[in-house]
Amino acid sequence: MSNEDPRILELRKVRAKAQEGGGEERNAKQHAKGKLSARERVNLLLDPGTFNEIEPFITHQGDELNLLKEKFYGDGVVTGYGQINGRTVYLYSQDFTIYGGTLSEMQSHKICRVMDLALRNGVPFISLIDSGGARIQEGVRSMGGYAEIFRRNAQYSGVIPQVSVMLGPCAGGAAYSPALTDLVIMVENQSFMFLTGPEVIKAVTGEAVDAESLGGSAVHNSISGVAHISVASERAALETARKFLAYLPSNNVENPPYIQPADSPARMDEELNRIIPLEATEAYVMRQVIEKIIDQDSFFEIQAGWARNAIVGLARIGGHSVGVVAQEPSIMAGVIDIDAADKMTRFVRMCDCFNIPLVTFVDSPGFLPGIAQEHGGIIRHGAKLLYAYSEATVPKICVITRKAYGGAYVVMSSKYLGTDVTYAWPSAEIAVIGAEGAANILFKKQIESAADPVAERQKLAAEYRQKFNNPYYAASTGYVDDIIEPRESRPKIIASLSALRDKYAPAPPRKHGNIPV
Ligand code: HXC
Repeated sequence: MSNEDPRILELRKVRAKAQEGGGEERNAKQHAKGKLSARERVNLLLDPGTFNEIEPFITHQGDELNLLKEKFYGDGVVTGYGQINGRTVYLYSQDFTIYGGTLSEMQSHKICRVMDLALRNGVPFISLIDSGGARIQEGVRSMGGYAEIFRRNAQYSGVIPQVSVMLGPCAGGAAYSPALTDLVIMVENQSFMFLTGPEVIKAVTGEAVDAESLGGSAVHNSISGVAHISVASERAALETARKFLAYLPSNNVENPPYIQPADSPARMDEELNRIIPLEATEAYVMRQVIEKIIDQDSFFEIQAGWARNAIVGLARIGGHSVGVVAQEPSIMAGVIDIDAADKMTRFVRMCDCFNIPLVTFVDSPGFLPGIAQEHGGIIRHGAKLLYAYSEATVPKICVITRKAYGGAYVVMSSKYLGTDVTYAWPSAEIAVIGAEGAANILFKKQIESAADPVAERQKLAAEYRQKFNNPYYAASTGYVDDIIEPRESRPKIIASLSALRDKYAPAPPRKHGNIPV
């Protein structure tokens, strides 16, 4: 017989109960769906043995109609703190086995508590989301609970990194909170995000759609742009969150972590000198250019499946985190359309919040012409990108690999938008528009009255090309800082970043700007 203090024994009993979630049957159902439990997820996310739970004994406080019969410890969410790669993070993990992980007043209280602690301590905040949204039985109290979370998501944005890992059906508020965070990771065929589900849509609009086609990972990672990364399993999703945070500082007044690179800063890849085709209309793959310049295997691409004509991602160069922004000339010729502008804007601003220098590679014929784009507000969307680059005070380096026509030159981190160093490769073409188009406009009458208009246009275009479609005119007027061999890009970027390490560029005081959205 134990002679332990009965109060200690009682604590152990209550604690064990609090670990059970919604009970054996519901836990078995969760596992049968191939899903992990809330606690299993936390333990996989964090460094082993580092999790400390907060407020495990909270329960719901009842509802007016007395529909919530059973009280469960934790009220459908596990909250606390732990470490990722030795650095502290705060988190919550919703427990779908308790009222579908739905958000109650007390669940909101628990989540807000860890959000506040994350802010107060200047460390990242991670949400593991698996929830049916606002708990219907609690009415306005659950909706108010979401408002408390959204307000914190917004106010803490740009102060501490916020990551959302979507692990189940995430409806209503469970979709809106992630939309306010820095990174949204989804699991194929397991996570869904929608404001109103298939049944409501059927009732309201008559449209028949299943959850996957409405708000599955493929949809949000290729059509809507709501999510940033799609992975095949929960484990991969949790590993991705860990990887992402390794590029970021814990808060906006720290610098990102430095990782001793295995790759030599002086390395020059000779392939780069042969990568740009001699024919201007032939494509090459910008992702290959990026891989050859950054530290080996360090590219963490974001939104790889959406607006693929633009590339954004975190990388390391010389061991330091950088944000890479580029066009992909092998997709839609690297043109900037509405989605590409949105994708690049958001990424530039995230890097700027968290003191991550920006390295931009430009090869774009400019903004996408067309009625759909104009009517869709490409002016407004392109203006966001201008705004973001102009506003960003982190070190900014730009490399023009080939086309930098018109808006593409100006918007993509041009020198007088505040870029610190602008390099051009010898293949760079920097002009207001392409040579043929320029000849048509500038020499319209001359071409029309020529004996052979086609030959005349070609001759005039060639003259224009020789004058403007190269980097030498831009360099002679100071619009690019240097023309470099492509293979020199890595050492040149590393040297520039090192010289910009202590960049001081305070913005004029203001409450906040008014970015066109
Ligand atoms: C209370 C809920 C619930 C909810 C699910 N449950 N959603 N309880 N409020 N919103 C409960 C179920 O009754 C069930 O309880 C358990 O959670 C598991 O749900 P199932 O339906 O059995 O699971 P599944 O078949 O996997 O379907 C999950 C689901 C579906 C897709 C999430 O339950 C669903 O469509 N729920 C409603 C979603 C919704 O409309 N939410 C409100 C969004 S509005 P038992 O006891 O059987 O285990 C919103 C407003 C916020 O969030 C404001 C935003 C701006």
